[in-house]
Amino acid sequence: VSSAFDFAGNLFPLSSTTGAGGYAPIGAPTSAARPAGGLGGESLEKHKTLTYLNGLSLIVGLIIGSGIFSSPSQVSSKVGSAGAALVVWVVAGILAWTGAASYAELGGCIPLNGGSQVYLAKTFGEIAGFLFTWVAVLVLKPGSAAIISIIMGEYFVRAIIGAEAETINPWINKSVALAGIAVVTFLNCISTRLGTRVNDVLMFLKFVALLGVTVTGIVVAITGYTFKGEKDVAWKAHDWFDGTSFDLSNWAVALYGGLWAFDGWDNTNYVVGEFRNPSRDLPRVIHTAMPLVILSYVLANVAYFLVLPVGEVNGSNTVAVAFGSKVFGPIGALVLALVVSASCFGALNSSTFTAGRLVYVAGKEGYVPAVFGRIGVGNEERELSTQHTRSCFSKRLRGCFGDDDMGLFYTPIYALILNGTITAGYCIVGEFATLVTFYGVAGYTFYFVTVLGLIILRVKEPHLERPYKTWITTPIIFCCVSLFLLSRAVFAQPLQTLAVVAFVIAGIPVYFWRIRGRDQARKREGDGGERPWWRFWT
Ligand code: ARG
Repeated sequence: VSSAFDFAGNLFPLSSTTGAGGYAPIGAPTSAARPAGGLGGESLEKHKTLTYLNGLSLIVGLIIGSGIFSSPSQVSSKVGSAGAALVVWVVAGILAWTGAASYAELGGCIPLNGGSQVYLAKTFGEIAGFLFTWVAVLVLKPGSAAIISIIMGEYFVRAIIGAEAETINPWINKSVALAGIAVVTFLNCISTRLGTRVNDVLMFLKFVALLGVTVTGIVVAITGYTFKGEKDVAWKAHDWFDGTSFDLSNWAVALYGGLWAFDGWDNTNYVVGEFRNPSRDLPRVIHTAMPLVILSYVLANVAYFLVLPVGEVNGSNTVAVAFGSKVFGPIGALVLALVVSASCFGALNSSTFTAGRLVYVAGKEGYVPAVFGRIGVGNEERELSTQHTRSCFSKRLRGCFGDDDMGLFYTPIYALILNGTITAGYCIVGEFATLVTFYGVAGYTFYFVTVLGLIILRVKEPHLERPYKTWITTPIIFCCVSLFLLSRAVFAQPLQTLAVVAFVIAGIPVYFWRIRGRDQARKREGDGGERPWWRFWT
C-alpha cells in the first residue's frame, strides 16, 4: 500500500527542468525545494485549524443559499406537478450526495487544498488541473457568487421596500449585492476564524428557518387554517401527480434547477489541507451534511406545496416570500425575505472563503501571478499583528477571530480581493439566465471528469491508500446521471455548450505561457537569482 504522499515527487512530472529540487505539491513543505519568499513562502496549510464542525457549517452554509427559497418554481413548472417536483428534489439530492461521497474518497487519498484542481492533475496530468482552475477562478466561483449576491440583494430590497412593490430599479438590488460582496471579502481577509464563525451562526439560522417553514406547513395542513385566519388552504385540492410532464428535456431542466440548490457539495474539498484530521472528518462532514440538506429541502418543499397551490408555486420566483405572506401576511413576507437574504449572505461568505483558497493555491502553483498565492502579512508583520491583537483584545474575544498564534490578516488577502473583484464585475454586467446555464454546464463537465478520474484511479492505482473508500457504484451512478444531464444540455443549449468548450480551449495556450514563466522563475531561484519586484507575473 502506498502512502498518501507517495506521489509527492511525481504528482506532476514537470519538475525535471527546474533543477530546484523538483516540484513540491501544494501543502508539502516547500522550504527545501524553494527559497523562502519565492513562489512558496508562508503557507496556510501549516496551520490546520478546521474541525468537523467548521467543515459542516462550511458546506451546509454554502449549499443552503438561494436555491431552496427560489428554485422550487423552476422545478415544478417544468415537471408539471407537485409530486413530480418532489421526485426531482430527491433525485437531485441523491445525485449531489453521490458526487460528494466520491469527492470524499478523493479528498481522503489526496488531502491537499484545491479540490478538483489537484485530483484532475493527479489523474489526467497538470494541464487538466490547470484548465479546471482556469474555469473555476474566472467563471465558476465568481459567477455563482454573483448569482447568489444578486438574489440576496433582491430579497433584501424587497424586505425593506415591501414585497408588493412593483418594479424595483435593478441597480438598487445590485448595489446591495455589491455591498454584500465587499463585506464578505473583507471579513474573510481579516481572519479565517472570523469567516468560519459567521458560517457557524448562519448555518444554525438556516436550519431554524427551514424547520420553521416545515412546521408551519404541517400546522397549516392539519388545521386547514393559515395564521391569518384564512380557511381552506389549497392543499386538499391538489392531486399530487396531476399534470406530470413526460418530456425528458423538461425533467433535465428541472434537475438543473434542483442541482443549483444542492450545489456547493464539493467545497469542503477546496480546504481539505486545512483540516486537523482530514481523512476522518471529510467523509463524516459529507455524510452528515448531505442527508441533512436533502431532508430539510424535501420537507420544505412539502410545506410549500401544502400551503400554496401548484400554480402559485410555478408562477413565483420567490416562493418563500409567497409562502410567508400567505400564512402570516405582510410580516411573514418580510421575515422570510430577511431570512433568505441572510441565508444568501451566508452562502456568499462560505463561497468566498473557499474561492479565496482556490485562487491562493493557483497562485502557489504559478497558474496565476504569484502575488495571489501569498498570505496577507509576512512573518515579521505577522508577529507584530499577533502582538497587536493580543494587546487589544481579551483572550475570549481573540478566540473568535484569530488563533492565538495567528494575527489578523493571516489570510490569502490578494486572492480574496481578486475573487471579489471578478465577482463584482459579473454582478454589474451579468446576464443571469446565461450565467446560470453556463455555470451548470461548465460545473458538471468538471464534476463528471473528476469523478471519472476516481474510477480511473481505482483501476490504475489500486493500492493507493484510501482512508475512505466509497462503493464503486457511487461514482458510476454520478457519472451516468451527469453524462445524461450534459448530453441534454448539448441539444437544448448548443450555443452555451459551445461557449463553454471554447472557453476551456482558450485556457490551453494560457497554460503553456504560465508554466513556462513558472519554470523560469524556479530556475532563477534555484540559481540563487532574485526575482525583480516588477516581474509580478511569474
Ligand atoms: N446551493 C447554493 C444556493 O442554493 C448555490 C451554490 C453555488 N455554488 C458555489 N460553488 N458557490 O444558492
